[in-house]
Amino acid sequence: MARITAGLTTSHIPAIGAAIDLGKTQEPYWKPLFEGYDWTKSWAKENVPDVVILVYNDHASAFTPELVPTFALGCADEFKPADEGYGPRPVPVVHGDPDLAAHLAESLILDEFDLTLMYKLDVDHGLTVPLSLVYGQPDEWPVKVIPLAVNVVQYPPPTGHRCLRLGQAIRRAVQSYGEDLTVHVWGTGGMSHQLQGPRAGFINSEFDTAFLNRLVKDPEGLAKIPHIEYVREAGSEGIELVMQLIMRGAMGPEAEELYRFYHVPGSNTAVGHIVLRPADA
Ligand code: DHB
Ligand code: FE
Repeated sequence: MARITAGLTTSHIPAIGAAIDLGKTQEPYWKPLFEGYDWTKSWAKENVPDVVILVYNDHASAFTPELVPTFALGCADEFKPADEGYGPRPVPVVHGDPDLAAHLAESLILDEFDLTLMYKLDVDHGLTVPLSLVYGQPDEWPVKVIPLAVNVVQYPPPTGHRCLRLGQAIRRAVQSYGEDLTVHVWGTGGMSHQLQGPRAGFINSEFDTAFLNRLVKDPEGLAKIPHIEYVREAGSEGIELVMQLIMRGAMGPEAEELYRFYHVPGSNTAVGHIVLRPADA
């Protein structure tokens, strides 16, 4: 039987990817941010799963305003780094797990989550920056990755409640897979940030800390927050945080916080990162 053995959340700021790709991680601005991931990098070397289900959002790279799937599951063999306007990032191609993805598709759709199935999908910074933060700059990523893209770009995104329920359904789906695999679920995006308009640069550390606390201890309560509260308290792009509830749902009712890092600023945003272990792992 396949098992979920860990989960993590992290911001996926594009400038972090650029800092890595351009060799700037030791510069004074970036050093404290990257040091915040040292614990995770060591942990990740000792805890390599077979597959990561990586929840992220596409930022109008693979999708356009003409095609907006709420939840899109990557079912392909491989996923190329997207060209986001300045050439694709110089990172390895992402290898998928089409067999597990097909099982997830069947299980989740029969469980009444009507996913869009992607047999071709270029992956942008939302997916590749977390991989770089956790696995550094290898020639090949050490894990297979199943992308799960969530629309948080064009109104209306899914509710936090729907995201938590989807995570719970992912847990059931993984646990009903016959192969003996270990699986991690990652939720990316956030923390508080607003990239445009009069409140550009808005950061709310109090909200971010409370969000992470409740994500660990009170996911059902946290899932009740309406969109307007995310926008008001975490900025317009802070709505990306709903994706972290998918990860949390996949951990089951109880999860232990192994590590947390919070840092301001990273580019225009707050950087938040936690690592969780499900109670039954
Ligand atoms: C930025 C973009 C993002 O997609 C994000 O999640 C955080 C920050 C940015 O452009 O700075
Ligand atoms: Fe983003």
